[in-house]
Amino acid sequence: MVFILFEISDSKMKKIVVFTGAGISAESGIKTFRATDGLWEQYRIEDVATPQAWNNNQELVLKFYNERRKQILNAPPNKAHLAFSELQKSFDVQIITQNIDDLHERSGSKKVMHLHGEILKSRSTINGKLVYNINGTELNLDDKCEEGSQLRPHIVWFGEEVPNMRIAYKMAESADIFIVVGTSLNVYPAAGIIDYVPTNALKFLIDPNAESLNLPLGFNVIPSNASKGVPLLVKKLINDY
Ligand code: APR
Repeated sequence: MVFILFEISDSKMKKIVVFTGAGISAESGIKTFRATDGLWEQYRIEDVATPQAWNNNQELVLKFYNERRKQILNAPPNKAHLAFSELQKSFDVQIITQNIDDLHERSGSKKVMHLHGEILKSRSTINGKLVYNINGTELNLDDKCEEGSQLRPHIVWFGEEVPNMRIAYKMAESADIFIVVGTSLNVYPAAGIIDYVPTNALKFLIDPNAESLNLPLGFNVIPSNASKGVPLLVKKLINDY
């Protein structure tokens, strides 16, 4: 009998789970939500990001996301996104993002899961399984799915279930190293992911306003912008582990 001994490289690699929020894309020119000049200072959540908003005024909701889509398509990934992509050469890296932009994917990260949806996609309003890529920047009234219903942005609105949450908790449970970047940890259930990280995992949190956050226990805090803090941490992880 011949035994072939080989190792699947991924299974030997340490697992790094990265949890990102709006702050990682801030230096790409995309506004965060809760800063004093943030998006929710300019728009009321209940006017543009809830099922009720959609029922009240589909045109306004579509316009809001069309503007966001245009801005995102013009925004380049920054050094933080790129550093996480680099990290894949040495670790099994799973990104879990609350962001609806595609900057992690565009920077080359292979395993990216979106908790709050993706702005470059649309979804049928009668059959949630029908999801489409949006060509260009606009989704408009009368854009319909193949079953004839209006398409909506493929976004998880306030008050809606987060379909990927359970998978995300499982991913967090499997982390050897867990990294949080650029989130105020204000929005649940997403922020609850922190509670699923094993106690013995190495934990880092990068945020320039870390002192104002309700910091979870056991995290090594790097009080810095993502574009500076992430490349430094990535370098250290590659050298040390
Ligand atoms: N680098 C890293 N972090 C930054 C930077 C930066 N350059 N600039 C700002 N931050 C931090 C802020 O200090 C803040 O803690 O990013 C965080 C952004 O917080 P929020 O605006 O609340 O965004 P986020 O946590 O992603 O929001 C969660 O809420 O509005 C909903 O669905 C939306 O996914 C979003 C969710």
